[in-house]
Amino acid sequence: MADPTPNLQEVHDFLFTLAIRAGTMITSANPALSPVDTKKNSSDLVTETDKAVEDMVSSSLKSKFPSYSFLGEETSTSGHLTSAPTFIVDPIDGTTNFVHAHPYISISMAFAYECRPLVGIVYNPFTQHLYHAIHGKGAFLTAPSIPTSHPPLPSHGESNVEPVVSAYTRTRLPLKSPAPPLQGLKQALVAIEWGNERSGNNWETKTKTFSSLAGDDSTGGSMVHSLRSLGSAALNCCAVARGDLDAYWEGGCWAWDVGAGWVIVEEAGGKVVGGNEGEWKPNVDGRRYLVVRGAEGGQEEMIHEFWGALRGKLEYEQ
Ligand code: IPD
Repeated sequence: MADPTPNLQEVHDFLFTLAIRAGTMITSANPALSPVDTKKNSSDLVTETDKAVEDMVSSSLKSKFPSYSFLGEETSTSGHLTSAPTFIVDPIDGTTNFVHAHPYISISMAFAYECRPLVGIVYNPFTQHLYHAIHGKGAFLTAPSIPTSHPPLPSHGESNVEPVVSAYTRTRLPLKSPAPPLQGLKQALVAIEWGNERSGNNWETKTKTFSSLAGDDSTGGSMVHSLRSLGSAALNCCAVARGDLDAYWEGGCWAWDVGAGWVIVEEAGGKVVGGNEGEWKPNVDGRRYLVVRGAEGGQEEMIHEFWGALRGKLEYEQ
């Protein structure tokens, strides 16, 4: 029988070291030489490196935690999470970026129990930014230290910085503490993603909503500061956790894209709700999400305003 009380610190520490091993595999692979296959269509990509990393991670996890389940992007047939203790892994989140040698990619690993993500690790091996969180213990960014010859960056409040080893700094998220209040959509920087469904109801809902978010008053739009489409759901969540992005809205991605980022966002004071109006309690495998950063005064007003800007309803196969 599965262990009823998973040791979250032990799980976190193991995933942390696995992320670094996986990162070395990713940075030493040459995307130009890694054969690319398509899955659902020509914009849904997978490489030999995705498969090799998932293989290494799943076999390491199976030997260390043999009673826990595993849900991985390249091997799962359903994408469904059960209430069993489960590792949820995307070996390369941002495969399209990887194929184009664009360095906005990550390995994303979560541990969930009773369908709730409790540990999250997201690592971009190109920037060596490692985001990590355990439920109830805060979210952190471990990254190469800022060279002392540089002026300090304004977003790193001194009291928020905790040195770990000489070359790395461990910083509690969000980077600005206390997190400034949200100022509504008009002042917001928002991440969206195009996804790989390019026709039908979900495509129309997305493209009309993008236009409604970006358009000015004369179009009936919210005129956000801007929209960003960066290509890694996990890193988008981490940018919201940092406080660099105000919100991230997406439909079509899976539990392995958002599971780890979810814990990191929540532990940084942010909130994850559903991508459709009224979905206050989304499932991790629900495939449509609105992620809002931590803020003094909370996120409720922003969530209502965002849902009011939606044009249609996202309906993905579960
Ligand atoms: C994709 C990325 C992308 C999101 C897609 C995902 P993958 O993950 O997270 O940002 O828009 O829905 O499939 O395929 O690169 O692991």
